[in-house]
Amino acid sequence: MIRIEHLRKEYPKAIPLKDVNVEIRKGDVISVIGPSGTGKSTLIRCINMLDPPTSGKIFIDDEEITAKGCDIARLRRKMGMVFQHFNLFPHMTVIENIMTAPVDLLGKTKQEAYDKGMELLRTVGLADKALSYPNDLSGGQKQRVAIARTLAMEPEIILFDEPTSALDPTMIGEVQAVIRDLAKRGTTMIIVTHEMKFAREVCNRVFYMDQGEVYEDGPPEQIFDNPQKERTRQFIRRLKVLEYTIDSKDFDFIGLNTKIEEFGRKHRISQKTIYNIQSYVEEMCVQILLPQIDNRFEMLITLEYSEEKDEANVVIRYNGNGFDPLQTENELSLLLAKKATESIVYQAEPENVLYNRVSAEIR
Ligand SMILES: Nc1ncnc2c1ncn2[C@@H]1O[C@H](COP(=O)(O)OP(=O)(O)OP(=O)(O)O)[C@@H](O)[C@H]1O
Ligand SMILES: [Mg+2]
Repeated sequence: MIRIEHLRKEYPKAIPLKDVNVEIRKGDVISVIGPSGTGKSTLIRCINMLDPPTSGKIFIDDEEITAKGCDIARLRRKMGMVFQHFNLFPHMTVIENIMTAPVDLLGKTKQEAYDKGMELLRTVGLADKALSYPNDLSGGQKQRVAIARTLAMEPEIILFDEPTSALDPTMIGEVQAVIRDLAKRGTTMIIVTHEMKFAREVCNRVFYMDQGEVYEDGPPEQIFDNPQKERTRQFIRRLKVLEYTIDSKDFDFIGLNTKIEEFGRKHRISQKTIYNIQSYVEEMCVQILLPQIDNRFEMLITLEYSEEKDEANVVIRYNGNGFDPLQTENELSLLLAKKATESIVYQAEPENVLYNRVSAEIR
């Protein structure tokens, strides 16, 4: 459906896309992921020629949209766009927002556009808001209207650029549900997203972007669980892991708690689990371990979250020769640490620089 050959995009100060070569098939639901600034948005904008490529070719249904003299407006109509910000017309009601383009651009009658618009509002769960104005809707509702408006143009493919990143956490789910539903109906979609859990659930392919190209292209199981290339591996690992080094007894404990909180929210870890992680780290690191090791100590905390098991694993490594926290005299802290966890295991690792390792599973 879309074929991209040697796509290159240069800006005066950046070359986000150096050589992109991919094919997108009908029915594909593709998540585009990657570090910030790797050209994900640029790719989306190039595909529908909002931003013309520097060189390379893009074919939509075998017609080259990048060719000179191409009827871009006609080909662009095959592609719907949904942005982070919804850009609804504030002076029009919801149903008017949806009807305008089909009437103006597709030559539909008002009745046809209205009937179709109401049907679409029902599919996004907002039929009762047809006569409301955008400013009376929540962010999640606005984004659902924006999706309905895009669908009203009957696109063959929908391009999403971070459709949920401007929304409060409580509204992300409702917009994702709409996109999930579209995927079930076989809608072809390309979705730039930072929501990895969602990407894994909804898509059949993932493009990992890096180095000016689609660096790795594969099914979600490959990209998220078994990436084949080095940079993908690093990116995925960094996503799932929070690492924190403590090198002073006066370390910023509040800062660590904030990092855990942010990590938890990013991964949609339940508030209860986040709290358990925080209280475990406080009891284990601050109350039990820190008083035991001398001043030249070093401690590394690694927090990893597994979606499959819905469980966090916290590994604390520290130097010193063999203090087993499970034998601590601080019984109260040990009790609290145990209360916050499923299991705690201590291991001496004499071959490592950080000799001691204590690992806990937390739900
Ligand atoms: N209109 C523009 N003019 C000049 N430079 C641009 C323009 N748009 C993007 N860039 C540059 O191109 C690079 C890629 O930007 P792009 O927005 O595509 O990244 P991204 O992968 O979408 O990042 P993010 O995850 O932060 O949204 C960046 O270095 C950016 O500064
Ligand atoms: Mg972007």
